[in-house]
Amino acid sequence: MAKMEVKTSLLDNMIGVGDMVLLEPLNEDSFINNLKKRFDHSEIYTYIGSVVVSINPYRLLPIYSPEKVEEYRNRNFYELSPHIFALSDEAYRSLRDQDKDQCILITGESGAGKTEASKLVMSYVAAVCGKGAEVNQVKEQLLQSNPVLEAFGNAKTVRNDNSSRFGKYMDIEFDFKGDPLGGVISNYLLEKSRVVKQPRGERNFHIFYQILSGASEDLLNKLKLERDFSRYNYLSLDSARVNGVDDAVNFRTVRNAMQIVGFMDHETQSILEVVAAVLKLGNIEFKPESRVNGLDESKIKDKNELKEICELTGIDQSVLERAFSFRTVEAKQERVSTTLNVAQAYYARDALAKNLYSRLFSWLVTRINESIKAQTKVRKKVMGVLDIYGFEIFEDNSFEQFIINYCNEKLQQIFIELTLKEEQEEYIREGIEWTHIEYFNNAIICDLIENNQTGILAMLDEECLRPGTVTDDTFLEKLNQVCATHQHFESRMSKCSRFLNDTSLPHSCFRIQHYAGKVMYQVEGFVDKNNDLLYRDLSQAMWKANHSLIKALFPEGNPAKINLKRPPTAGSQFKASVATLMKNLQTKNPNYIRCIKPNDKKAAHSFNEALVCHQVRYLGLLENVRVRRAGYAFRQPYELCLERYKMLCKQTWPHWKGPARAGVEVLFNELEIPEEEYSFGRSKIFIRNPRTLFKLEDLRKQRLEDLATLIQKIYRGWKCRTRFLLMKRSQIVIASWYRRYAQQRKYQRIKGSAIIVQSYTRGWKARKLLRELKHQKRCKEAATTIAAYWHGTQARRELKRLKEEARRKHAVAVIWAYWLGLKVRREYRKFFRANAGRKIYEFTLQKIMQKYFLEMKTKMPSLSPIDANWPARPYLFLDATHKELKRIFHLWRCKKYRDQFTDQQKLIYEEKLEASELFKDKKALYPASVGQPFHGAYLEISKNPKYKKLKEAVEEKIIIAEVVNKINRANGKCASRIFLLTKNNVLLADQKSGHIKSLVPLGDVTKVSMSSQNDGFFAVHLKEGSGAAGKGDFLFSSDHLIEMATKLYRTTLSQTNQKLNIEISDEFLVQFRQDKVCVKFIQGNQKNGNIPTCKRKNNRLLEVAVP
Ligand SMILES: Nc1ncnc2c1ncn2[C@@H]1O[C@H](COP(=O)(O)OP(=O)(O)OP(=O)(O)O)[C@@H](O)[C@H]1O
Ligand SMILES: [Mg+2]
Repeated sequence: MAKMEVKTSLLDNMIGVGDMVLLEPLNEDSFINNLKKRFDHSEIYTYIGSVVVSINPYRLLPIYSPEKVEEYRNRNFYELSPHIFALSDEAYRSLRDQDKDQCILITGESGAGKTEASKLVMSYVAAVCGKGAEVNQVKEQLLQSNPVLEAFGNAKTVRNDNSSRFGKYMDIEFDFKGDPLGGVISNYLLEKSRVVKQPRGERNFHIFYQILSGASEDLLNKLKLERDFSRYNYLSLDSARVNGVDDAVNFRTVRNAMQIVGFMDHETQSILEVVAAVLKLGNIEFKPESRVNGLDESKIKDKNELKEICELTGIDQSVLERAFSFRTVEAKQERVSTTLNVAQAYYARDALAKNLYSRLFSWLVTRINESIKAQTKVRKKVMGVLDIYGFEIFEDNSFEQFIINYCNEKLQQIFIELTLKEEQEEYIREGIEWTHIEYFNNAIICDLIENNQTGILAMLDEECLRPGTVTDDTFLEKLNQVCATHQHFESRMSKCSRFLNDTSLPHSCFRIQHYAGKVMYQVEGFVDKNNDLLYRDLSQAMWKANHSLIKALFPEGNPAKINLKRPPTAGSQFKASVATLMKNLQTKNPNYIRCIKPNDKKAAHSFNEALVCHQVRYLGLLENVRVRRAGYAFRQPYELCLERYKMLCKQTWPHWKGPARAGVEVLFNELEIPEEEYSFGRSKIFIRNPRTLFKLEDLRKQRLEDLATLIQKIYRGWKCRTRFLLMKRSQIVIASWYRRYAQQRKYQRIKGSAIIVQSYTRGWKARKLLRELKHQKRCKEAATTIAAYWHGTQARRELKRLKEEARRKHAVAVIWAYWLGLKVRREYRKFFRANAGRKIYEFTLQKIMQKYFLEMKTKMPSLSPIDANWPARPYLFLDATHKELKRIFHLWRCKKYRDQFTDQQKLIYEEKLEASELFKDKKALYPASVGQPFHGAYLEISKNPKYKKLKEAVEEKIIIAEVVNKINRANGKCASRIFLLTKNNVLLADQKSGHIKSLVPLGDVTKVSMSSQNDGFFAVHLKEGSGAAGKGDFLFSSDHLIEMATKLYRTTLSQTNQKLNIEISDEFLVQFRQDKVCVKFIQGNQKNGNIPTCKRKNNRLLEVAVP
């Protein structure tokens, strides 16, 4: 901040005038004085508007430090004291911010400081542009390409110890952010003649000296070189050492730079080998040798050097030797081989050395380009830096100087075009009032050199291509003819008489009045150098080399690619490449650095006014100031101007509706800029004073900061809010997902645990149960098994015993029988001869039977008929007998039993038997009646006086006298009656009075019906049509049914000799008067306890419910 406050303008603490535009009065003297004054105060930079004039200080100034870089960074061009950094910053910023490709044109004569200036620009840009590993590598590669190219392309000249002997244009490529991406280098015509010969006081290219001084012994041995410079013809001796230059240190710097740029070790080695080969080529010497036919021939003096070269480069020695002795010319399929004389051999040698070196240099540039080329295909912004050899005037000027100076003419031309001419023309175009300023336009000189018909280069080409003898003199003659009248061409031999007596102009020279001064060119060598021929034998020899780099340098040596067409001449090649360069520069925004050399002695603090004055003149700097002063310092199209400054006025911000010019007017009025400070052109606004522009810029900067703050504020607010909302939403989403997830996990865990607990419990229970069941089963099985085994054992034991016993008994019996039989037979043999067997059998049988019956007698059971015991059968064959005996015995003991009965008892038993036959297994009531004795006369009629009349009425013997219930036929109700059975009749009498109600002869009783159940109901069916049957069949109920039915049956049988039909059925029909009624027995009604009830259901059905 402090710094900024101290130095805010170019005008502060100014020494002389920082911008020549402000110089008052303006003339050549004041101009030079101003430069001198500033130079003396170490201010080497001065502005002419936006052009930087730089004077070489020839000493190190402390104005390129990193602090200085920071000071100039992002500052306005006119804000600080003039500096090359200010120009670099301006160019870089308008490249980065306004998307304008830039070029930096550095001009000035040799030794004026162009190369240094270009390096300063590059290092400044490298310091301020983007940072980062990748970007830094690109920067480093771009910067390190300089020492490599300088080592191979620079040399000490009388004017400059580090003079660029080639033209260099480097495009640095940037991305949209302003970060460097890479670069492309174009090189222009290397001064290759220097390889073989250097003017007095000058050196060959630096690299030769660097190798010899800096290479290790080992490397030198490999390259077959010796450290001594004097060993090499190509290195002039008089100024081999340069003051203040350490070649050995520089060699290490170069090798290091090559590594950084990306050269592989083997590539570096190959390059050094080629350099060594070139150096050694100079040591090959030839001696003349006459042949018989009188033709001169040459011979290599000492073949050792040749041998070493061939070893280094892998070329066949004989091939190279032949190429130095013969020349093959091919024309229309004819090959003619001619010998070379000594001069031609030397020419061939030098041509080879020059070609090898210049091709190596071009290859180096291509190789560096490969390393530094941008890796992306995005659109690039470009900053071109042009550092070309400066205008030079030597004692002897040749083709090279001609070319170099031509190039400088072209640069001056483009400067004039773009600044002076363009500036004036623009004022006219824009209709701005303008007084014309005279300046020298060098277009006429360019035309003298490059005109396609009459230009010097065209003449030279014509001479070179012309058949017949062509020499430098014929070329000069031609020039004299064609250019004689040209104002800027001078020659002794020209038709123009002006120079006929000019002794300063030798006959073999021509002079050109360049914009920077007159230069006299020696015509010698022009044709040759323009032709730039290398004998084909040599290029073929090179192509055959067993060295990949050399092979690649001479592609035309490949016999398969022989091209009979002449290659373009050096002059036309250069002209074409310069034209391309100019075209390229015109598309870019130019920034000028005009370098001035203060003295010829390369000395610090020395300001040679005459020398500077000369340069100021030819550079047209004064005209430059005049044009600048007469006009306006700054101009810009209205649209761009309005776009740039519209934020400074409320009416034009943010959008101006209407023509841009009106907008700019409003803007300038609003800002109260004095009217004389600007002027309105047709399409541009012209601002007279730079200060007005600074004011605008400052205001804009201030305003931009405010706007940026506003935008930042709004953007930050928006960004924070959006971010907050997003985070809030995200938080909810995440939380809900997490909760869901957590609950799911928890649920799964609980579920899992429950299942585990369940399964454990179930498992435990099941196992317990299983254990119990298994135990039970095992117990059962064990018991069963044990029992089975025990039973088995017992059974088997018993069986075994029984079998044994049976076997023994049987055996005993058999043995006994046999023995007995034997004994008997022995005893009775004498008595029984025949029938003895049958008799023995019968006897035996008799004995057995006897024994059987005797035994039976003791075993007889009791005499009770119901005793079921009976002894077991002793012999199988007696089975039937035994059973029969049992039956007989039973019958006998039954008879015995019966024989004990009285008649009375017999009768009773007969009746009982009868009852059994009738009812056993038929009527459920029967079993209960078995134990009851049959009394018959339950009512003692004879004894009861109540029934005296009844007794009298019944004369016959009463078999049954009993009270029964008579069922009323109509309703099923009961009425007690005395039931009497006599021999012939059945009588029914009133129970109370004994009065006879009905009398039925037994013959009229057809059937008795009853149920099969445990009830006492029975029906007495009467014969149809009988007297008693008037009211129909009787239905009774009695407690002694079995007895009554049995007695009725027996009495009927004995009286009528007919068996009474007794029907046992649960459903039977009875005849009540006219109706046939069905009596139905139903089981299960227990309304009245165990007493059966009777109910007349309808005239067809009478239901009896039995328990
Ligand atoms: N800004 C500077 N500060 C200090 N020394 C400088 C500066 N510019 C140039 N020199 C000195 O001047 C010498 C010549 O400068 P430089 O090589 O840049 O000249 P040139 O214009 O490129 O010449 P040529 O056309 O021969 O290549 C440098 O070697 C250096 O010693
Ligand atoms: Mg240079």
